[in-house]
Amino acid sequence: MKIVYLLALGLLAGCTQEPPTGAQLFADNCTACHGTDGTGSGWVASGLERKPANLTTLSARNKGVFPMERVLSTIDGFHRNPAFETAMPEFGSFFSGPMDQIELDGVMTPVPEPLLLVAEYLRSLQTE
Ligand code: HEC
Repeated sequence: MKIVYLLALGLLAGCTQEPPTGAQLFADNCTACHGTDGTGSGWVASGLERKPANLTTLSARNKGVFPMERVLSTIDGFHRNPAFETAMPEFGSFFSGPMDQIELDGVMTPVPEPLLLVAEYLRSLQTE
């Protein structure tokens, strides 16, 4: 019997170590500003000089194409528009992890998995 309990405990421990999903990473790190729906309606948004971007219209504002490269580099802070609001933290070191390979502008590019998960979650929020 004890063995069964130990196995069950082991399974539970295994579950809690599952890497978080893109939705969870977004909920934990982004919703304060961008809102739970991604439209920019987070609870700290009104205190910011510049309104957090509406993350559900990224494709709509980019001729119907999800701007993957811009999204990745904006989140990790690798490359941002010089006029970008500094209130948004750079998540580069926070979203580090095992590398995935994705194609960006025809070039296979290594991207840390947690960063990619968040970006894919944003893609799923697009209204068009
Ligand atoms: C402290 C508030 C804050 C937090 C937390 C925050 N952001 Fe932002 N974010 C902003 C603001 C403000 C802007 C608009 C900046 C500008 O236009 O100058 C922005 C812009 C963006 C953009 C660019 C949108 C575009 O139109 O190009 C993306 C993508 C983005 N945020 C994703 C995220 C993600 C993903 C997270 C969580 C990992 C996050 N942000 C966390 C405040 C925040």
